[in-house]
Amino acid sequence: MKDSSLRSILITGGTGFIGSHTCLKLLEKGYFLYVVDSFINSSPKVLRKLEELFPQGSEKFNQQFNLIEGDIRDSTVIENIFINSINQNRCIEAVIHFAGLKSVEESLLNPSLYWDINVGGSIALVKVLEKYNCRTIVFSSSATVYNSISDSPLSENCEVRPCNPYGETKATVENILRSLYKNKRKDWRVINLRYFNPIGAHSSGVIGEDPIRKTNNLFPYLSKVASGNKEVLKIFGNDWPTFDGTAIRDYIHIMDLADVHCLALEYLLQKEESRFLCLNVGTGKGTSILELLKTYEIVNSCKIPFIYVDRRPGDIAISFAKTELATSILNWKPKFDISDMCRDGWNWQKLNPCGYQ
Ligand code: NAD
Ligand code: UD1
Repeated sequence: MKDSSLRSILITGGTGFIGSHTCLKLLEKGYFLYVVDSFINSSPKVLRKLEELFPQGSEKFNQQFNLIEGDIRDSTVIENIFINSINQNRCIEAVIHFAGLKSVEESLLNPSLYWDINVGGSIALVKVLEKYNCRTIVFSSSATVYNSISDSPLSENCEVRPCNPYGETKATVENILRSLYKNKRKDWRVINLRYFNPIGAHSSGVIGEDPIRKTNNLFPYLSKVASGNKEVLKIFGNDWPTFDGTAIRDYIHIMDLADVHCLALEYLLQKEESRFLCLNVGTGKGTSILELLKTYEIVNSCKIPFIYVDRRPGDIAISFAKTELATSILNWKPKFDISDMCRDGWNWQKLNPCGYQ
């Protein structure tokens, strides 16, 4: 395998929550990164934060990190990145494709926007990838692609049957990538990472989760209640068929998830032949909302007022991953537990009460 310091990678959506943490890991490993982002759900300020965290200083950072503002649906933006990379003698060898919208609720209100960005954007991207013979891709998929009535632990063989437009767009992009792979003459190497519930932040508190668009995910909300930014956490249902009545999810530390991306990329870059894999990325452990809340309070010595309200439409009782496939293929195990996630998430919230503003 070539020295990773010679390898150039394209990262779409690289200033977002998962992208920014992954970029840091890839920079530390010596990759040269072309990062494209429209900032529809992130801030360009992430650039300076990554520079601050980069251990080898600003000069090296600027040599390795190239941020381009642009929309993946605009093929000229992506083409220009490839043309520049060739002119700079840095052929892009692989893509990590994070760019997309991620709210189930918003996708129900505005499905065409989700099809346009998540699917249209991915099609525009892969057309350019084909043109420039770059056929190695790690794609951000989601546990939402599974049939909501399947029992946990969810394995990669469970039925894919999403029940909302967001999940449908993710399953569709997986299918597009599968079709490309099936065209054996072209040797596509693909890993779809099906994330469960990524939370937390880099331990420095310098980067973390700061969505611009409306979100109703549990962890960022819980952190805002802990900091007094919001009054009370509304727990959606205490009558779920679980041991304490609250819903169970598989939370994974964002830095563990960043590691998985590096390993998935390295795995594909080492392979000569085509590959198509779907891998669950979770810890394999379910945690109830009350357990998460209590852990957050204990680890961070804070109080989180909460009330129970009705179940959120479309939610399920229990979702956690069967993780053996990712463990065996990538030789990966999560390093962090729920306490680490709560500690690091709170540190980010305390240090950045208004996010990147
Ligand atoms: P995020 O919103 O923080 O990051 C996505 C990034 O993509 C943002 O920086 C946004 O500005 C950018 N983007 C969106 N549309 C774009 C476009 N057309 N062109 C260029 N850039 C664009 O979200 P995240 O949590 O980092 O998630 C990354 C990916 O992982 C998304 O595709 C999401 O659907 C998927 N995913 C996330 C989760 C989660 O819980 N965070 C779970 C499963 C899957
Ligand atoms: C949600 C999406 C999923 C997406 C993921 C990351 C739905 C149905 N699923 O997953 O497709 O990939 O986010 O973007 O939206 N909760 C509360 N109070 C709150 C917020 C959440 O009780 O204020 C509960 C929810 O009901 C759920 C759990 O906390 O039981 C986790 O919620 P959330 O963080 O939104 O993640 P998911 O629903 O698992």
